[in-house]
Amino acid sequence: MRPKVIVNVAMSADGKIALPDKTEVKISGEEDFERVHHLRNTVDAILVGIGTVLADDPKMTVKRKYVDDPTHPLKIVLDSHARTPPDAQLFSKGEHLIVTTEDNDKKGWIKCGEGDEVDLHQLMDILEERGVEKLLVEGGGEVIYSFFREGLVDEFNVFVGSMVIGGQDAPTPADGPGAQSIDDIVNLKLISHEKMDDGILLRYRVKGDD
Ligand SMILES: NC(=O)c1ccc[n+]([C@@H]2O[C@H](COP(=O)([O-])OP(=O)(O)OC[C@H]3O[C@@H](n4cnc5c(N)ncnc54)[C@H](OP(=O)(O)O)[C@@H]3O)[C@@H](O)[C@H]2O)c1
Repeated sequence: MRPKVIVNVAMSADGKIALPDKTEVKISGEEDFERVHHLRNTVDAILVGIGTVLADDPKMTVKRKYVDDPTHPLKIVLDSHARTPPDAQLFSKGEHLIVTTEDNDKKGWIKCGEGDEVDLHQLMDILEERGVEKLLVEGGGEVIYSFFREGLVDEFNVFVGSMVIGGQDAPTPADGPGAQSIDDIVNLKLISHEKMDDGILLRYRVKGDD
């Protein structure tokens, strides 16, 4: 069975996940950070796109500050054009997997598909073989949309922070080309809502994924 895919993201009340120039914004607070680190501690792997690595340089770890006995989920980056900086913080601790395409000859990197996008279905097969049962996709907008488009999302967690970022170029939780027709829309079922920090956490299941 392919890994269960949970998407987690924080957005402003107007649906943006960063500044228009992609600078990271602290959208949630301590309560939500704690929730996210506990969530990370329950998964086998955490995945982001190269856009997020270049913009945020995330560590992709479970912090001891929030979890007493942290696990070390595998860190995965989707990077078709081999742009991951060798000094990226994600390399500092734990196991990582940089996933590119057949167009690259980077040694030790996983290759899935050809062209400008990693083939997510091939990647799911590889992760399944490696024993990954739960995958947490943490962004950014382009990567999250690809997972939705390919029908690979099981659960969507979105924290809505009490702020307005604005700007038509600011990234959103699901960017890329978006739905091209009504049939492409991904329908969700709201599972829960919970006030957290000065915002709200919405948890959805993807409909038709029972
Ligand atoms: N608020 C939050 O919760 C949160 C969380 C994470 C990130 N962010 C923000 O999100 C922004 C970055 O998002 P982004 O959309 O620009 O970048 P992204 O989704 O992190 O990465 C997109 C890039 O990944 C590569 N890629 C490879 N295979 C792909 C595939 N199958 N589908 C999609 N992309 C694939 C592509 O670049 P190549 O063609 O070069 O491979 C693509 O341009 C930053 O501003 C960051 O701060 C916010």
